[in-house]
Amino acid sequence: PTIFVITPTYTRPVQKAELTRLANTFLHVQNLHWVVVEDSPRRTNLVSNLLEKAGLNFTHLNVETPKSLKLGLSWMPSHTPRGTLQRNLGLHWLRDSFSNTQPPAGVVYFADDDNTYSLELFEEMRYTKRVSVWPVAFVGGLRYESPKVSPAGRVVGWKTVFDPNRPFAIDMAGFAVSIKLILERPQASFKLDGVKGGYQETSLLKDLVTLDGLEPKAANCTKVLVWHTRTERPTLVNEGKRGFTDPRVEV
Ligand code: UGA
Ligand code: MN
Repeated sequence: PTIFVITPTYTRPVQKAELTRLANTFLHVQNLHWVVVEDSPRRTNLVSNLLEKAGLNFTHLNVETPKSLKLGLSWMPSHTPRGTLQRNLGLHWLRDSFSNTQPPAGVVYFADDDNTYSLELFEEMRYTKRVSVWPVAFVGGLRYESPKVSPAGRVVGWKTVFDPNRPFAIDMAGFAVSIKLILERPQASFKLDGVKGGYQETSLLKDLVTLDGLEPKAANCTKVLVWHTRTERPTLVNEGKRGFTDPRVEV
């Protein structure tokens, strides 16, 4: 089975470092297709060149998050959509690609560019029938958040402190969806309107599954195989107003 990884990404000082780290991870994964979606008005040379050189199967797309959307919602930072339109474009590309041809068996995974992914994770998700789930470290103010799994191996709720009543109290990094299900439900997408902080995942998943249909992975959700790491923004104070270093050198 193929793994389609959809990664939203945007221009900032650490972007190349983040994408380099991801590429290095994905190079160890069989049958992986990387769908990189830039939050920008056009595809950048930095990302194009990185993808050309990486040696991965990839698709390079872009869609800019409208300024109005960022500003309109900026009164609550957690409401500013991050990566939402980009993930939806990735889904659209996937549906478009397989509208006339038989899709491969496999899964779709939404991998943000700053997280840390173990290689084991990809083998866990690869055989997803519909939607599989697992724990994610460093989210919701906990060492890790996890689906709650019954002794019979069914998902029965969420071991989270932050709003555990969310229908799907799970981070973006904590689930994968079969390609088949994505294609069967062409309307399923991430919503921008009325999506409170922490509800973005629910806005997609509620159109795809119910709790009892979830497949727990990572030894019945007892292992942490992905970490919601966040990269510190480097302080570039010594660049000064005009910039000290050679702007022609790509970082
Ligand atoms: C958390 C979740 O883990 C994300 O999946 C969710 O999208 C996000 O919250 C949210 O609130 O929207 P967090 O670490 O806070 O993640 O978000 P980022 O890693 O900054 O952004 C998520 C993804 O969107 C990244 O791949 C990032 O490169 C991309 N992004 C971010 C953009 O494409 N455009 C932006 O303006 C900002
Ligand atoms: Mn992040």
